[in-house]
Amino acid sequence: MRRIVVTSGKGGVGKTTVTATLGRKLAGIGRRVVLVDGDVGLNNLDVVTAVERRVVYDISDVLAGKCRAFQALVTDSESSMRILPSGKDSRLVTAQAFCDVVNSFADFDFVIIDCPAGIEQGFHRAVSAADEAIVVTTPSISAIRDADKVISLLRSYRLRDVSLVVNRVRADMLAKGEMLGASEIGALLHVPPIGVIPEDDLITVFQQLGRVPSEAKSEKAFGFLAENVERGGKEFHDIAVKRRLFGRRSR
Ligand SMILES: Nc1ncnc2c1ncn2[C@@H]1O[C@H](COP(=O)(O)OP(=O)(O)O)[C@@H](O)[C@H]1O
Ligand SMILES: [Mg+2]
Repeated sequence: MRRIVVTSGKGGVGKTTVTATLGRKLAGIGRRVVLVDGDVGLNNLDVVTAVERRVVYDISDVLAGKCRAFQALVTDSESSMRILPSGKDSRLVTAQAFCDVVNSFADFDFVIIDCPAGIEQGFHRAVSAADEAIVVTTPSISAIRDADKVISLLRSYRLRDVSLVVNRVRADMLAKGEMLGASEIGALLHVPPIGVIPEDDLITVFQQLGRVPSEAKSEKAFGFLAENVERGGKEFHDIAVKRRLFGRRSR
């Protein structure tokens, strides 16, 4: 079982999107995947995976002894991936209890934990239960700065691996030098980028329906990310490089 936390510091950069889509891609290549919503109180993993109406139990019920952890799992609307919803009440969810629940999924290949924003208790709880971290940032300076803080904090945990996903990248702005590229961001943060996800209107439009169409331009990028996660690969497909090569060829 690999235990991966998806974190960022800053809210709204795409942690939940990356957690859900990476999970689906890994499930798509036959891996047994469970997503754990670590954002207790502000859950939205259940919405993004469209399982919200089928949720019977959540992590608080597991910890209150109302059900076993596997009984609380809900199957994703689009794949074989399972989801453990978070509860509204975080009082019972101590770091140790959270870790015990995560460890009860030993039969799965991947447990991916969606970390809450911030660097407080919820962050500690989610990171303590993981062996690997994926830090999500956008190319904005404020997100990069928060990612930097989170990366320094991650050094005090016993993590086997920390890698980076740069989300909401715009190829047109990259080409004009108006946005930092993934290699530059990786160099600034001293963490290798393993995924570069383009800004994709279809994510914004379709995500709340629980399904982003397979023709969405971000889908391929998420596929590359899943391959890297699966193989421990560190090379990434930079959107800007592809565009530059294309430009050269057409001249
Ligand atoms: N690559 C992307 N392109 C366009 N919109 C995105 C992308 N990634 C995330 N979003 C949107 O950004 C918002 C925040 O994403 P979310 O995954 O909920 O962030 P977080 O979990 O870090 O708070 C959501 O409305 C989501 O649909
Ligand atoms: Mg989120």
